[in-house]
Order: sequence, then structure tokens, then C-alpha cells
Amino acid sequence: MQESSVNYIYRQLYNDLKDDILAYKYESHEKLPSKRAMAQHANISVNSVKAAYEQLLEEGYIYTQERKGYYIEPLEQLIVKPQTQIQLEDYYREAAPQYQYSFSHMSTNIENFPMETWLKLQKQVFRQFTSRLSSIPEFKGPMELRQTIAKLVSYKRGIHCHPEQIIIGSGTNVLLKQLLDVMEEDSKIAVENPGYSRFRDLLNRSQKVTIPVSLDNKGISIKALKALNPNLVIVTPSHQFPMGTIMPISRRIDLLNWMTQTNGYIVEDDYDSEFKYNTDNIPSLYSFDKSGRVIYLGTFSKTLMPGLRLSYMILPTSLVKRFETTNHNVIPDFSMLNALTLYMLIKDGHYERYIKKMHHIYEEKRIKLIRALKKEFKDKITIKDTKAGLHFIVEVKTNYSYTEIESRAHEHQVELYTINRFTVEPVGETTATKTLIIGFANIDLTTMSKAVSTLKAILIK
Ligand SMILES: Cc1ncc(COP(=O)(O)O)c(C=O)c1O
Repeated sequence: MQESSVNYIYRQLYNDLKDDILAYKYESHEKLPSKRAMAQHANISVNSVKAAYEQLLEEGYIYTQERKGYYIEPLEQLIVKPQTQIQLEDYYREAAPQYQYSFSHMSTNIENFPMETWLKLQKQVFRQFTSRLSSIPEFKGPMELRQTIAKLVSYKRGIHCHPEQIIIGSGTNVLLKQLLDVMEEDSKIAVENPGYSRFRDLLNRSQKVTIPVSLDNKGISIKALKALNPNLVIVTPSHQFPMGTIMPISRRIDLLNWMTQTNGYIVEDDYDSEFKYNTDNIPSLYSFDKSGRVIYLGTFSKTLMPGLRLSYMILPTSLVKRFETTNHNVIPDFSMLNALTLYMLIKDGHYERYIKKMHHIYEEKRIKLIRALKKEFKDKITIKDTKAGLHFIVEVKTNYSYTEIESRAHEHQVELYTINRFTVEPVGETTATKTLIIGFANIDLTTMSKAVSTLKAILIK
């Protein structure tokens, strides 16, 4: 007899017996027929019966008494409560909409990603780091990558830190969550409003008190901060998200001074500082800090791709021990294979070359998109163009409400975000102009004019 048919026969008996046990057709502790008797009764081999009994024994349906035989394990009736029927297929379609054009600020363009180099380096990582890949990753991330990042931020962001201050994580949200675990229970945390809604959601889910702080033309309002007195404030000084303001030095000093005087901390979310057009890089807030008040968040989601899930946090020295005590038992959830490949990519100069290339590509897209928007919308659009990052803000004169714009964008299969997504309270619907966040990384040059005319069809009656 072939192995598959032996398997099939034993499986059938196992399934029949299991179903009968679960249907309470047997009494508790009832003795099963001997293997030989069962084999004769079912007209199968003793070996098949033995395999079925062994499997039932393994899973705890039956027990055995030496030299006596097999008995039914007493089982409680499984409690069954009626569940609401949910159509998961509908969820799926909602979660992964197909867009014709994407003006998302979150996406990057990976058409030019050095895929062959990445795959070659990944192979190299497999060979070179076999034992590291076979173990649980270090909780702060591989030292090689942390050393490389320390060098990178030193010449790119003026940050001089020890690799022990750097923590690798699978996203800035994950790192921020780990940081929150280190902060006092009753910490008050200030966030920019409008600001990055994912941080706000994370804070709202934590037990910490979240306080949204309004912005003025220099960034987060110090007057409001002083009135609220937070222990931690999260800001985007290089390119305020989403409004685009670059925090001037006067505001940086005021912010640093206030948080230093109150022994508070500042989280500097430096999410897209690698892309600045026609201007030099804006120095990081961390590089001005002489009192150890700034925690720096960096990400590879903008320079490489969000799907990589690799970000990092640089702690002031005073928080390193506290962080280690709280988190040393955490198994990090970033991919060690990707982290080590990234280390090789940076070390061998590919990363720098790729950013340079993407810088040109994004710069061209940004200029052409601004031109196309002005041409199509004429006096109906005001572009608040900060020469930085992968998005800008526009104000459009339209009679549609924010809710209508969102649903019309959906109908036209266009990924588009309005300011409403980033403010704590929805913005008034009565204003004559509506504020939109226009990401340009994923707008193709060849279809750009079509994308812009579709945008106009969504916004203008
Ligand atoms: C404001 C802001 N902060 C941080 C990030 C980076 O998030 P992550 O590193 O989790 O991908 C993004 C990503 O788009 C962002 O827009």
C-alpha cells in the first residue's frame, strides 16, 4: 500500500473518533476497543489504528493505562456564544483601495531603488552574519548599523552621539511607545496641532495626558506651551508636519530654554530632512541642545521606503540607562536581515548615492507639479511651498466641504488628504478655501497633467 493511502486511512479513523468524542458519543473514561479489535471492526491494519490512537493520545482526547488499553478523557462541554457575522471581504476592499493617482504624503517612489544591489547585499548578509541571523536581535539593534547611523547623523545633522545612545526600531511609533514607557506615569505630552495624527492616536491610547498645542508662523506656540507646562513636547522643527514651517532659530532657542528650565524633554521628529531643495540642510534641534533635553527620531521611510520599517531614536545620555532597564527584555520587531542589509547599503556608499539621485527626481517632480497646479487652477489655488520634504500645502477656493472632497477623491480613485486628518477638531466647513496636503513622490511625470486635471474635477464644480 502507498504511504499516502496509509496516511489517509489512519486520518479517517482519527477524524471519526475525534468527532464522536467531541459529540459526546462516548462516556468519560469509557474504554476504546483494543487496536486489534478496532482494526478488525474497521477492516484496516493494526498499524493504522495505532497511528490514529497515538494522535488522539498526543492531543489529549484519550489517555492510556499500561497493559489495559485506551480510555476517553473526560471533557467539559465547550461554551458557544453566538457571534455577529462579519463580512471580512468588505473590510479587505476598504483597507486596500486601488488608486489611479496618489497625492499621499506618506508614500515614496521606489522605481529607482537599487534593487539588485540590495539583493546582492542581502545575500552577503546571509553569508557574513549567519550566527547573528540565527539568534534574537540585540534589543537596541545591531551595533554595526548604530555605528553607521552615528557617523551619518554626525555629518548630515550635526549630531555627535555615541552608538549606545541609538535605538533601532520598526517605526517611529514603536520607538515613541518605548520612550513613553520610560517617562513618568503622569507625564503630560504636548503635540503640534495640526500634527502627525499617528503620534496623537498612540498617545491617546497610552495612559499619558496628551495636549494639542496650536502653531503660529514660527511653529509650536511657546506662549501656549508655557501655559500648559508639559513634561514632553513632540515637534517637527525642520519641516513642520503637515504645514511645512521651518522653525527659525529664535523659536528653537525659546523652545530649548523653556524645556531646559522645566527639566522637560523635546522629541524632534526629523522625518524628511534629507530632502531640501535649493537650500542647505536645516541643522537639527538636537545639535543646538547643550543640556540633554532633545530626543531625536529619524526614519528610513522617506529616503528608502515605508515598507522597510526601519527607524531610529537618539537618546540624550541621561535616558540611556533608564531606557535599557525598561526595555532590555523586549525582542525588537524590526527585521534583522533588513537592518544588516541597510548597514551594508550605507557603509558602501549606495545609500548616499541613492538619496542624491532621488533628490533630483523629487525636485523635478515638485517643480513640475507646482507649475501644473498653477496652470490648471489659476487663481483658485495658493501654494504654500516650503522647499523641503515630499509634500506641500495648498489652499483651494472650492464650494465643496471637506467631507465632500474626501468622498469625491475616493470616487475618482485618487488618494488625497485634507487638513482635517491632522487637526484635533475638524476644521470648519464654511471657509471658502480648503487646505490640502499634496504629496508628490508618487506622481508620475508622464501622467502628471492627467492627475492634476482629475484633482481639479474633484475640487472645482
Ligand atoms: C510626521 C512624520 N513623522 C514620522 C514619520 C515616519 O514614520 P515611520 O518611521 O514610522 O515610518 C512620518 C512618515 O511618513 C511622518 O510623516
